[in-house]
Order: sequence, then C-alpha cells, then structure tokens
Amino acid sequence: MNIAIVGSGYVGLVTGVCLSQIGHKVTCVDVDQEKIKKLRLGKVPIFEPGLEELLKKNLKNKRLSFTTSIREATRKSTAIFIAVGTPSKKNGDADLTYVENVARQIAVNMDGYKLIIEKSTVPAETGKRVARTIKMNLPKKFEKNKKSELDFDVASNPEFLREGSAVHDFMNPDRVVIGVESKKAEKLFREIYKPLNPHMVVTNINSAELIKHASNSFLATKISFINSISQICDKLGADILKVAEGMGFDKRIGRAFLNAGVGYGGSCFPKDVDAFVRISEKSGYDFRLLDEVRKINEEQKASFVRLIEDKLWIVKNKVIGVLGLAFKPDTDDMRSAPSIDIINALQQEGAKIKAYDPVAVPNAKKILKKVTYCKDPYDAAKGCDCLVLLTEWDEFKKLNFKKIGSAMKQPILFDGRNLYHDKNLGDLGFEYYGVGRGVKAGS
Ligand code: UGA
Repeated sequence: MNIAIVGSGYVGLVTGVCLSQIGHKVTCVDVDQEKIKKLRLGKVPIFEPGLEELLKKNLKNKRLSFTTSIREATRKSTAIFIAVGTPSKKNGDADLTYVENVARQIAVNMDGYKLIIEKSTVPAETGKRVARTIKMNLPKKFEKNKKSELDFDVASNPEFLREGSAVHDFMNPDRVVIGVESKKAEKLFREIYKPLNPHMVVTNINSAELIKHASNSFLATKISFINSISQICDKLGADILKVAEGMGFDKRIGRAFLNAGVGYGGSCFPKDVDAFVRISEKSGYDFRLLDEVRKINEEQKASFVRLIEDKLWIVKNKVIGVLGLAFKPDTDDMRSAPSIDIINALQQEGAKIKAYDPVAVPNAKKILKKVTYCKDPYDAAKGCDCLVLLTEWDEFKKLNFKKIGSAMKQPILFDGRNLYHDKNLGDLGFEYYGVGRGVKAGS
C-alpha cells in the first residue's frame, strides 16, 4: 500500500521504516529540511538499535522516501499516519497544535479517499476533532459532493513501541489496536498489518485512544507500586528483588515492570500520566491514583538522593561519579531522565559531578551543566568519593570492579537500578547500596 507518515520523529520514523520493511511504499514527511536531507542519505538522527540498517536497505530498494511536502505525500498515499509531537502544556494538557496543522494540510491537499490515522498519543475525542478539521478544510470539489464523508476516514492506531527495542516491538507486537468508524478503514488496516499477522483489537476511536493512555498509566503505576514497596523493604529489612520475584510468578501480576529503581522517565510516562490526569479531570473524574503515581515517582528520586547524602555524610566538594545518564539503556534520550533531577540535587548540595554514558552525553550536555563528562566508567570512577549508577547499560554489567575500586578515593557504590545485586561487591571492599535491599538512610 502507498503510505505517508507525517512527522519523522521517533515514532514516525520507526513506523515508516518498519512499514517499508514489511513491503509497503512509504513516504515520510518532516518540516525539518536538515533532518530530511540526512535521512535521505541513510543517517538516523536518533539512537535506536537496528533502525539505520533497515532505513538504508529500504532507501536502496526504493520502498522508502523522504520529503518536506505534505502535499506530495498526501497525493501519493491511501493511508496517512499523523505522528507529530504532542508536547505537554504547563497545565499537563497535550498541546495538539501540530496535529491540527497537519490535519488541515492533509485536507487541503486531498484528491481522493484517504485513511487518516492518529499515531501520536492524543486525548480521547481527538479523532472527532481531526475529522471535523478535515471536513472543514476539504478542497471545494469535495464540499459540493454530498458523499464527502465517504472520501476519508479518520482512525486511531496507538503505538506501543519502547525506545531501545522499537524495531523489535514493531515487528513482534503483542497486539495492534485500531479505532475505526467504518468497515473500509478496518479492511485497510488489516491489509497494512497483514505481513505481521498480529492479534488485532478492533474498537471505536475513543476506546483506542484510551487504551494507549490506560496502558502507559498502568505501567507507570506498576513501577510506582514496586518503588513504594522498595521503601517499605528498606524500613523493614526486606529484599525488593525477592518480593518482586515472589509477586511476579503469579500469572495475574507478572514480573515485568516490577523493577524498583530511581523512578521512571522518558518522553512518554511522565507526559502521558500528566495528560491522563487532565483528561480524567476534564471528563469529570478525579484520578487520584495517578496523582499519587507521579508523586511517588518524584519521591523515589528524592529518597535516593537522601540515601547518598546520608552515607556520604558531607556532600559539599565531594566528587561523585555517575554511570548512565539516559532515562533507560539502549537510547540516547535524556527527556525527563531521573539523572537530571538527581544530579541537580547533588550539585545543589555542592557535589562535583563526573559522568559517563555510552551514547547520551551529547544530549546530556544540553541539559546538565558543570558536569565533567568522562570517556569510560574507569575515568568516571577516578578520584571519586562514590559512584552512582543511574542507567542499567549492559556495558556496566561487565566492569572490572577491582580496577574501579582502586581508581576511587573511597569505594562506595549506590546502585539506582539494582544492577549489581548478584555481585559480592562487599568482598572487593565496596560499601554497596541498592534500592529496596533492606538498608535505610540513617542506619
Ligand atoms: C513506554 C511504553 O513501555 C511503550 O509501550 C510506549 O509505546 C511508549 O512508552 C510510548 O508511549 O511511546 P519507553 O518510554 O520507551 O516506552 O520506555 P519503557 O521501557 O517503558 O521505560 C520507561 C521508564 O520506566 C524508564 O525510565 C525505565 O527505566 C522505567 N522502568 C521500567 C522502571 O523504573 N522499572 C521497570 O520495571 C520498568
């Protein structure tokens, strides 16, 4: 099928490249000319394992192309995905300015039936608003046509990709959710996703939009839940890893997303939880549970900082080495990364920060100031009063702790992701603190 993707950011690019990989002819659009130039040369502007390889392959076989023209992409395509940004406004609402603009531009350039699909995470009812915007901006010849409603369908197809494993997630979806208002739209979706043979959940647009919000909010709730339990573990001398294991074997609960740590970050959970609280509020429901979820996430970072301050005793002028800055491994994304709040809090207390991350440093430099960026973990450990692990990169699992310990001023390690839970770092002379491992600040 000829498909257009408007917005070549993280979601749009992964979707476009993967749809071309499964056999469709895809045109990706973006307003950023520089970005389009690079993409045409096969260069991916984000760090996402496996993406560049597929991009190059499908550029070569001409199933994938890039343009800055919505007109060109609209004319060529039957299905058009809207995958532009929906940033948060100050009050937590999603800002849908880009979505509206794109809908209008698609409408004025329409020359026949189009399936217009919301891919960005949007509040319930956005589909209806997009449909109205399109109807109001259709070219004159369609306006006169009494069957104008038949000339397009609006649909919702939320994405569930995780950064760092997005290509794998696209190719192996747990489910594909489509919100449609016509049989024709459903049929087109089935054609688009046929090569993946996924389990399809077919529903109306409002429900599809809600599925996305409910899923992300539920996962964030799971993380805040286990983080709350980690606090109790520290107070009662219990071990969060065993608690999560014991809970996770219950099939109704499951082990996934029960990793206690320094809290969730990224471009999705913090923003989506805020947006869902607002959507609920506007609908007349006070979603108190989600309010607590975000508070607990903030407290989790603060409590980790308190632990460091307590164990270091005096933080002022201490040198703290940080391992990992990205909000999670396998990405260079620093958006709402817990490292930002934690480093800022330690700097406020007068700590000197040295940091290493395998790929996120260029992005970190734009946000975190007065940090000495290091070339590797050993360099980050050199002369430090303690090490703080904030992102569980694979490369950190294989560190030579003898070497790390001897490079440090004093071998104290705060493991914000419980990455080293099975290493006997005590035997190597380390003072070791994880999250929820039965050690409370002040003890
Ligand atoms: C999340 C969802 O998992 C995707 O399904 C969704 O498509 C995406 O948001 C989105 O809305 O676009 P992502 O933000 O890439 O994906 O990352 P996750 O792997 O979900 O992790 C989010 C945060 O939670 C990270 O900071 C991670 O460290 C943290 N986390 C995750 C925990 O603290 N504990 C866990 O057990 C799991």
